[in-house]
Amino acid sequence: MDSMSQQSEEDSYFVRELDINAGSVLKVNQCLKGDVGHVVWDAAIVLAKYLETKAFLKSNGLASKHVLELGAGTGIVGLVAATLGAHVTLTDLEDLQALLKKNINVNQSLISGSATAKVLKWGENASDFLPPPDMILMADCIYYEQSVGPLVDTLKTLAGPDTCVLCCYEQRTEGVNPEMERRFFELLLQHFSSEEIPAEQQDPEYNSPDIHLLHLRRL
Ligand SMILES: C[S@@+](CC[C@H](N)C(=O)[O-])C[C@H]1O[C@@H](n2cnc3c(N)ncnc32)[C@H](O)[C@@H]1O
Repeated sequence: MDSMSQQSEEDSYFVRELDINAGSVLKVNQCLKGDVGHVVWDAAIVLAKYLETKAFLKSNGLASKHVLELGAGTGIVGLVAATLGAHVTLTDLEDLQALLKKNINVNQSLISGSATAKVLKWGENASDFLPPPDMILMADCIYYEQSVGPLVDTLKTLAGPDTCVLCCYEQRTEGVNPEMERRFFELLLQHFSSEEIPAEQQDPEYNSPDIHLLHLRRL
């Protein structure tokens, strides 16, 4: 690659920095162009920072745990889990794989577990990701009408009785969002119990009334 094309490739990214683990800085590339997964969403920050809270680490801990992230986008949530010692598979559609791999490489020195990027399209065969992981993470994945059913199907396939599923989403009141959210929970709650994690147990800085953090368990 000549220096001109290298320059223009670098120009198409902008970096989001996140302070983690008392002093380190995670650097997450986002794309100037691309679909919704190419930037970091607020729900991802809320979930990522929750993973670092003393309350969460005491009850679950991430060291050596097998973690799967759905709709990982830039990978920021799964990367934080990997810095806390988890073995994480960051999944998303094919067109997010290059960005996920870039972000894994950039942050490799902070990862004490491991991180791998893989394609997983909701509703399609997910048997490669079994047996059920210890934990499934998903941030801002309830946003696309056609994906609500396939997303619940994938959760049903992948979550075992002992899997801790953390689902963080931003409540949006405009357009089709309320109906989509209602439909998601109607399908989900046939197979999962859901418990809201109160703001007092979340990161004191990174929480918000319109961002909900749920602990789901397979019924
Ligand atoms: C709003 S973005 C959230 C990205 C990231 N979790 C965050 O919060 O920053 C939703 C993500 O879901 C992914 N996604 C959408 N439909 C999908 C599907 N059918 N299968 C797998 N991933 C999908 C998108 O590619 C995108 O990365």
